Amino acid sequence: MSPRIVTLPGDGVGPEVVNSAVEVLRAVGSLEFSAFPFGAASIELTGLPLTDEVLDACRSADAVLVGAVGTAHQPTDPAAPRPGQGLLDLRAALGLYANIRPVRAWPALSDMGPYRTETVKDADLVIVRELTGGLYAGTRGLRGTGADRLAFDTCVYTAGEIERVARVAFELARTRAHSRRRPARLTSIDKANVLETSRLWRDVLTALGAAEYPGVRLDHLLVDSGAMALVSTPRRFDVIITENMFGDILSDAAAPISGSLGMLASASLAGSPAESMTKPLGGLYEPVHGSAPDIAGQGVANPYGAILSAALLLRYGLGLPTEAAALEDAVEGALAAGIRTRDIGGVATTADATRAVLGQLR
Ligand code: NAI
Ligand code: MG
Repeated sequence: MSPRIVTLPGDGVGPEVVNSAVEVLRAVGSLEFSAFPFGAASIELTGLPLTDEVLDACRSADAVLVGAVGTAHQPTDPAAPRPGQGLLDLRAALGLYANIRPVRAWPALSDMGPYRTETVKDADLVIVRELTGGLYAGTRGLRGTGADRLAFDTCVYTAGEIERVARVAFELARTRAHSRRRPARLTSIDKANVLETSRLWRDVLTALGAAEYPGVRLDHLLVDSGAMALVSTPRRFDVIITENMFGDILSDAAAPISGSLGMLASASLAGSPAESMTKPLGGLYEPVHGSAPDIAGQGVANPYGAILSAALLLRYGLGLPTEAAALEDAVEGALAAGIRTRDIGGVATTADATRAVLGQLR
């Protein structure tokens, strides 16, 4: 039976780039697709960003491919349903605890982006972000009045939550080292000089590394100096692991290394990449960019990030690493052939770029 992929194209440029990704996926394998409304598109139809019916479809799919959600204007009524909530609810319902974001400097785009060519040249790293715990998930509150108004958010991690995501990062470091024929390296980023959760984080990482991954060189950086290192010497990193909020911030800071938001892919997993060879992981795959309302409907969105997300879907979601690599090589080939959308300094349309990738696959 062909693997079944649920697509949630969503809003804005979401449907445009998901179309491209589906076209390319159809060219590499026999897959079945079914599309469902999501985000603002779903709110318009049902009043909810994510309905139970769509959630059930995602649960029973072999993998989920998302475009983007959101509209140009945020609702003024704070009680109004928000498109982005659908994505948060979906990740939580599927138990996706590891977010994987590869960031690389594409040789063909060395003139793009704010970082100097010499700085980012050959940068090729992955950020693994814990996706379910920490400050974004802890108890929060607001009470009192006037100058006594008090707000709080709490950052909580259990050793078990840290260990399961740490395993993802260690195994990713090992696999990447193997395929790139270089020593395995993992950098953990925390704030252990201040935060108790970070001290537990560092403890768990160190113990797990020593017990089960002696072949992976583990080092630790504090988040402030780590942020500087990431933008000033990105080449020194291979796999980075960090908690939820630090990962949110650091992964956006690293994004310009790839030249454009439109070039970035992500995977959200509930298992470790090493397992994906024997037991496909499922999970959720989405480009990093949003719905880009400013260019939606014009056919000029960059589809490469969505196509690279489809490659991650093949690799981790379905356990098809060869097909995944073929897709990634095809994107690289299309870029090398000078097929660039507007955001990366060219004039190609979404359809041109998609055709170029399909051409490289043949
Ligand atoms: P955005 O990522 O949609 O756009 C930022 C800038 O990058 C815009 O100038 C846009 O034109 C450009 N851009 C983004 N994707 C592109 C692509 N594929 N090709 C060419 N150019 C591209 O972020 P923004 O403007 O802050 O948010 C717009 C909406 O998207 C909001 O409603 C926001 O909440 C939502 N959003 C959704 C995300 C998701 O679904 N995961 C992530 C980020 C934002
Ligand atoms: Mg973010």
